[in-house]
Amino acid sequence: MKTILLFAMALISVSTSMVFAQVIRGDARAGQAVYEQQCLRCHGVKLDGNGSDSKDLVIPPADFQSHKSRSKTDWELLVAISNGVLFSPMHGFRGKLTDQQLLDVLSYIRSVARPDITS
Ligand code: HEC
Repeated sequence: MKTILLFAMALISVSTSMVFAQVIRGDARAGQAVYEQQCLRCHGVKLDGNGSDSKDLVIPPADFQSHKSRSKTDWELLVAISNGVLFSPMHGFRGKLTDQQLLDVLSYIRSVARPDITS
């Protein structure tokens, strides 16, 4: 009986670690490089939407430090990054960046402007 229990526990721990291994995580440091190349000119050094090109845009770039943006889920931001925002200068980066780079840049944004989950 004891061995069966041990075996079952081992099986559970192996299968759960396999599930966790499949969660793909972004690397914030790699994401910073992507951000500086692709996003900084609009969203700015401080991620507050004040990049050098933002002055010329009718629709201002999102301020990732704002409550509005920080209260969005990772998923909402990822959809905006990969598909773009309709009728705005924010175009989609799917195809231009790899899936891993999309997650990396999201991870960088979240590391600087932490999600506000209290609201
Ligand atoms: C040409 C300027 C420009 C560039 C380059 C740009 N963005 Fe944007 N982005 C915008 C604008 C403008 C908006 C706001 C759209 C709106 O509010 O309708 C926006 C919105 C977003 C949003 C939605 C935020 C929210 O709170 O809903 C995300 C996420 C985002 N950008 C991420 C990125 C990332 C990541 C990159 C680089 C890979 C990038 N953007 C590059 C202009 C830009």
